[in-house]
Amino acid sequence: MKILRTRKELREFSREQKEAGKTIGLVPTMGALHEGHLALMRAACEKCDVVIASVFVNPVQFGPNEDYDKYPRRFAEDCRLLEGIPVDAVFHPTPEEMYPEGYCTYVQVDGSITNKLCGAQRPGHFRGVATVVTKLINLARADEAFFGQKDAQQVVVIRRFVEDLDINVHIRMVPIVREESGLARSSRNMYLSAEEKKAACVLSGSLREAKEAFEKGETDVDILKRLVSERIEAEPLASIDYVELFSFPALQPIRKVSETALLAIAVKIGKTRLIDNVILEGSQKAS
Ligand code: PAF
Repeated sequence: MKILRTRKELREFSREQKEAGKTIGLVPTMGALHEGHLALMRAACEKCDVVIASVFVNPVQFGPNEDYDKYPRRFAEDCRLLEGIPVDAVFHPTPEEMYPEGYCTYVQVDGSITNKLCGAQRPGHFRGVATVVTKLINLARADEAFFGQKDAQQVVVIRRFVEDLDINVHIRMVPIVREESGLARSSRNMYLSAEEKKAACVLSGSLREAKEAFEKGETDVDILKRLVSERIEAEPLASIDYVELFSFPALQPIRKVSETALLAIAVKIGKTRLIDNVILEGSQKAS
């Protein structure tokens, strides 16, 4: 596996692959890799000739009081996992390499898909994500890029700017990978104590219950949201940031779930903010 640290090295690597007629799959990550990321890598290997992972904790998508400094960084361990897939190259730049002195261009997706859910809670977050993902797709000359459903709003935002900016890449969404307990895999799970990890199962448990209710015929959005909230509120270590149910992928308010919808939650367990979601399949399928 090639380790690429500069934009020039990545451009050069991608150019060689393109000249050899290969398709390129890109898997952007912030490292601290887990099974969820590895599922993205495997999906990329299946679809593309060459797979490039990126490991970059992107400063511009973190707010001033968020966990940028303490976000887990363990590149050697990440490389070991990537080699086991195996991916062909990993791009691991410094912040100065990605945003050199004088850098002043950002990708901003306006409107109703960014002003709710995590966009409402984390101002500037999606501007940072859209900026870095645009740069990574361009540098890697990716034919396809792979993202997890756990960040479903992120996928919607990325698909939006890819379409709006005429970027020639296919964005794929890969299903959430869960621990046996149901807890969605996340790099932030490593902040949790054993007690908090147990409590964190309330996220997936509440979503599962709501999905079961939906499958038994409950389509009222307020009732489904209330089911989730009440279950989470009963967990003493949990505090709700949001429980929302929107149409998917448009992310528009609905009163009844008649077409495909996204039930999404953000919950603090102790000091750790976790997100999770479930797609409720109406007549129109999500992909
Ligand atoms: O989902 C993430 O880990 C990040 O938001 C991403 C897409 C790698 C951009 O920094």
